[in-house]
Amino acid sequence: MVLAGSAATAAQPPAYRWDLPPGFPPPRVPAGNPMSEAKAVLGKRLFFDTRLSVTGQYSCASCHRPESAFTDGRARAVGATGRRLNHNAMSLVNVAYAVSFGWTNAGFDSLEAQMRRPLFNQHPVEIGLRGREAALLRELAADPAVRAGFAQAFPGSANPISLGHLIQAIACYERTLVFARSVFDRYIFDDDQSALTGAAKRGMALFFGPRLACAQCHFGLNLAGPAAIAGKPPPAPIFADTGTQGRFKVPGLRNVALTAPYMHDGRFVDLRSVLDHYEHIERDRAPGETLDPRLRTFHLAVGEKQDLIDFLESLSDLQYAGSAPLH
Ligand code: HEC
Ligand code: HEC
Repeated sequence: MVLAGSAATAAQPPAYRWDLPPGFPPPRVPAGNPMSEAKAVLGKRLFFDTRLSVTGQYSCASCHRPESAFTDGRARAVGATGRRLNHNAMSLVNVAYAVSFGWTNAGFDSLEAQMRRPLFNQHPVEIGLRGREAALLRELAADPAVRAGFAQAFPGSANPISLGHLIQAIACYERTLVFARSVFDRYIFDDDQSALTGAAKRGMALFFGPRLACAQCHFGLNLAGPAAIAGKPPPAPIFADTGTQGRFKVPGLRNVALTAPYMHDGRFVDLRSVLDHYEHIERDRAPGETLDPRLRTFHLAVGEKQDLIDFLESLSDLQYAGSAPLH
């Protein structure tokens, strides 16, 4: 599938080719930041670059570690200066398909817009770039490899090394983080009947069935609500109150076995605790809290909880865990 082909001129890099397996259409990409291999390579470098941070020791990857499906293993993230954030670091797995960004609806409608938050936030600091923008750009310009990377990523630009381009490159890299061949995908899209164990199949039936109805909120490509697909109008995001004191974005469940602890505040240490929560949601709800009507009341028989956990574990794409692939 070729994107960004129509506006191509001789001065632009070759059109980007998504290398996506069956079941995965290309994600929606903002017209102002078409995909390119050179931009993604530069973005990857900058995603891991600690020069962006106020302490010189922090990067996006400090909180979004590839080996933890781009989370940090903490209940709540900790910024460059050591201050604890309010929320759990979110996974960036298949974030290209997301229709909103952040746990709460903060109005970010693109990865580019979202990035201003970790870069510039001061209460508390995440990366801590505010006020140091010009100094960082000078430092990057003095690094021959980075300078060459910007020149390749933004050919024909009079001023390739800019903050806008840095943000575009990192967003381009983020969009390449597509994880598409978990055993669940092999079962669904490659018709590999033996990919899922019997227990995972039973768990899948529970997840999608009417009794638990998890898929009322966790559905689509990423079990995260509707996905943003190239050429289709952007769908509305889903937020829900699941008894955790507030309305939050329905997170995707791909690679969820790698992203503990769970929920917006990291309150649950493992998947079993999340399922216990859903099972006792009515009993445990805070006084006055209005739960989302899509939630079901249910009781799981012995063995059913483990079946569900086996299903959730089948959503891991272990082929890519531990590395940051560009494709
Ligand atoms: C200090 C830890 C930390 C750093 C550093 C950090 N993030 Fe995050 N990230 C978070 C947390 C916490 C959230 C959830 C934010 C919220 O809604 O409160 C998040 C959310 C996101 C999201 C939204 C994902 C979704 O599915 O909605 C994206 C995208 C993201 N970060 C990208 C980045 C990029 C790019 C960088 C580097 C420029 C970065 N982050 C640096 C902690 C961090
Ligand atoms: C009404 C919509 C809704 C339904 C139904 C629902 N969920 Fe969720 N789910 C959410 C929201 C919203 C969150 C995030 C809540 C928070 O951060 O406090 C979440 C979080 C999760 C998480 C933690 C993910 C993470 O990265 O932290 C898991 C696992 C999960 N749900 C599984 C399930 C299962 C299994 C079911 C069926 C029993 C289910 N969900 C039903 C909306 C829903």
